[in-house]
Amino acid sequence: MTLPLTIADLKDLARRRVPTMFFDYADSGALTESTYRANEEDFGKIKFRQRVLVDMENRSLESTMIGQKVAMPVALAPTGSTGMQCADGEMLAARAAEEFGVPFTLSTMSICSIEDVASVTTRPFWFQLYVMRDRGFVHDLMDRAKAAKCSALVLTLDLQILAQRHKDIRNGLSAPPKMTLRNIADMAMRPRWVMGMARTPRRSFGNIVGHAKGVTDLSSLSAWTGEQFDQKLSWDDVAWIRDRWGGKLILKGILDTEDALMAARTGADALVVSNHGGRQLDGAPSSISVLEEIVDTVGDRIEIHLDGGIRSGQDVLKAICLGAKGTYIGRPFLYGLGAMGKAGVTRALEIIRKEMDITMALCGKRLVTEMGREQLYRR
Ligand code: GLV
Repeated sequence: MTLPLTIADLKDLARRRVPTMFFDYADSGALTESTYRANEEDFGKIKFRQRVLVDMENRSLESTMIGQKVAMPVALAPTGSTGMQCADGEMLAARAAEEFGVPFTLSTMSICSIEDVASVTTRPFWFQLYVMRDRGFVHDLMDRAKAAKCSALVLTLDLQILAQRHKDIRNGLSAPPKMTLRNIADMAMRPRWVMGMARTPRRSFGNIVGHAKGVTDLSSLSAWTGEQFDQKLSWDDVAWIRDRWGGKLILKGILDTEDALMAARTGADALVVSNHGGRQLDGAPSSISVLEEIVDTVGDRIEIHLDGGIRSGQDVLKAICLGAKGTYIGRPFLYGLGAMGKAGVTRALEIIRKEMDITMALCGKRLVTEMGREQLYRR
């Protein structure tokens, strides 16, 4: 097999290897998916400025995110149910990220637990927190992340309620999944996935089952998650989480400049310009289209990161040029994982690195940290 050359190649392969229900869960956006599409399309509207005859030897993509060294400014985003794209998915992705030298962010809604990931990694990873009504559970999660030596907490702000994703409903995605004839036939056509799942004990939400009060099996879990996302979450809660955590804090899910100002006032280390990959407020603008205005408003007070729509190294560079210090990839690494397991995550990172390096050189720059707005045409 020739190695996949693009993130789209990995996506095609993942579509064939991962049961439709789980591929669609990762791939879909909310309602009409207009924001999901805009996230990708708006990157295409930005053009690079080509420069020639500048010395481009000795290039480097190294940078920092929240003061931590990264081989390139690309972290793996927190994504739910990653261990359903491929057995033990979070453990594999965390190891690929560690070997590559980029941060891995474990979701609260992961299949492998914090402790599972800690057991296969040697360097600190980041932990994403959803604030549940059961504050005792939230405290425990933070303590577990601390015990696992997680070096940043990524607090998600844009999921006080879960938006509707039509495909998930049509596919019968639930905990436990609806075993319709169609779903059984679909899984039967993906024997590699089935064998992996049969071998691993990790098939449910590892951070929750056995830890949250009253959650012992998949059906109690479903009821629990339905009622636990805290609709009253407020900026005061961000303050107690910041104080209780006491370490590096990243606030994820900012699109509006007023919210960016509030985020900067919390003293957090970074904010992530994000619309949750188009999975929450459909009809919201793409992340890249609001990045500049947020950078201009609070960029001197707080580090700015971006996620949403990145499908290439060029997209990463566009975000960096517009003032993001770092970016996150979600679907690109999930496609890699579904396509080829750990090797697929490494491949996704290699594809992005190669595209970044070539593009940076042809823009006449040797260091990713020197890329700025001058490398783009003003729109
Ligand atoms: C969870 O974070 C999701 O977007 O499904």
